[in-house]
Amino acid sequence: MSAPRPRVVLGVSAGIAAYKACELLRRLTESGHDVHVVPTADALRFVGEPTWAALSGNPVSSEVWDDVAGVPHVRLGQNADLVFVAPATADLLARAAHGLAGDLLTNTLLTAHCPVVFAPAMHTEMWEHPATRANVATLRARGAIVVEPASGRLTGRDTGPGRLPDPAELFEVARRVLARGAAGRDLAGRHVVVSAGGTREPIDPVRFIGNRSSGLQGYALARTAVARGAKVTLVAANVALPDPAGAHVVPVGTAAEMAEAVLAAAGAADAVVMAAAVADFRPAEHRESKIKKVEGAGPEPIRLVQNPDILAELGRRRRPDQVIVGFAAETDDVLANGRAKLARKGSDLLVVNQVGDGLAFGRPDNAAVVLGADGSSTEVPLGAKEALAETVWDLVSARLDTPAGTRPSGPAPAGGRTADPPAD
Ligand code: CTP
Repeated sequence: MSAPRPRVVLGVSAGIAAYKACELLRRLTESGHDVHVVPTADALRFVGEPTWAALSGNPVSSEVWDDVAGVPHVRLGQNADLVFVAPATADLLARAAHGLAGDLLTNTLLTAHCPVVFAPAMHTEMWEHPATRANVATLRARGAIVVEPASGRLTGRDTGPGRLPDPAELFEVARRVLARGAAGRDLAGRHVVVSAGGTREPIDPVRFIGNRSSGLQGYALARTAVARGAKVTLVAANVALPDPAGAHVVPVGTAAEMAEAVLAAAGAADAVVMAAAVADFRPAEHRESKIKKVEGAGPEPIRLVQNPDILAELGRRRRPDQVIVGFAAETDDVLANGRAKLARKGSDLLVVNQVGDGLAFGRPDNAAVVLGADGSSTEVPLGAKEALAETVWDLVSARLDTPAGTRPSGPAPAGGRTADPPAD
């Protein structure tokens, strides 16, 4: 017998981004989910009932008065594995926050035992209005995941935060929330900062000193944190990947720009994970014009100066209730160098990767050992970068629940294999 298909209620409220929810619906049904679409009555002005019915293969209703004998206003929510509302308008968020139950979607929200995700889409003024902020805070406090809208072109000429994130990215959120199931939203109410990618230090207008980091690991950390309920700030250096739905992305170029963005966001954060490859050195001067070859004369040497060490600075500024995580790319003596680096940088955790020979950079998979300042070590075998990300959040989450000073010095609980700390 095949496993039952995960049951998803796709709520659609009356925003023009409703057309993007068709793509989300397609991705859900094509990947084997049983989806019931519950549009609000006004949402049907944007996309009609036949489209939802044809794409989902299930009947569609907005009202509690259809099929009354089947009690859909209670059953849909009770039976769902996930309720995902996209787009969620300011009006829908307000009704959900206040527990109103005037139509089938709001009834479903009141009867759902499963995770509930809202993907808001509206004009920036509406998103930033204190009423909407308060409603979002209420919903988050009750355990719902409210993903941050993307920034960009809105209906008409406006630009700003309020766009519905890319449907492919919303699908990733749905997939991850379903995969976590009962393990749930342990980062709800937490703000985490993740750095990703590799910094570039300009030599002249066309050349730079860079590195091979693709940003895949940092982006996997951001996506998994969103699905665990965290508010995520993603400081991204030179990454050519789509913005993860729900993360606030701050693009940067150089190590100095990354230092400014990370340290500014870290002040109010519960955890900071430095997955970015930060250049240790930059050219002492940035030439305004391109350096030219001079026939007969060799190239001029480029003098380098040291960049700020962001991770070490985070270690110095940390609050006792904050968790700081670094990454270490090592080619030799991986564990010994990792332990020394962990102590030197004052972090709680250090994810140690072996790099070189095609390992780690630009690949979808990764293997690592996560060293803890408490002496623990957690092995994460070769697998998707997403799996390593989940283990990192397991370890962070356990430490957030037991702030420094109250933590026992023992092995940390984790998704990977955890070894006892050394006896000393
Ligand atoms: N890092 C940082 N700022 C820097 C350099 C590195 O915050 N200027 C962070 C990285 O984001 C990573 C960690 O420090 O989380 C370790 O990076 P790595 O390059 O392995 O360490 P380095 O301190 O540069 O040490 P070394 O190059 O000597 O091994």
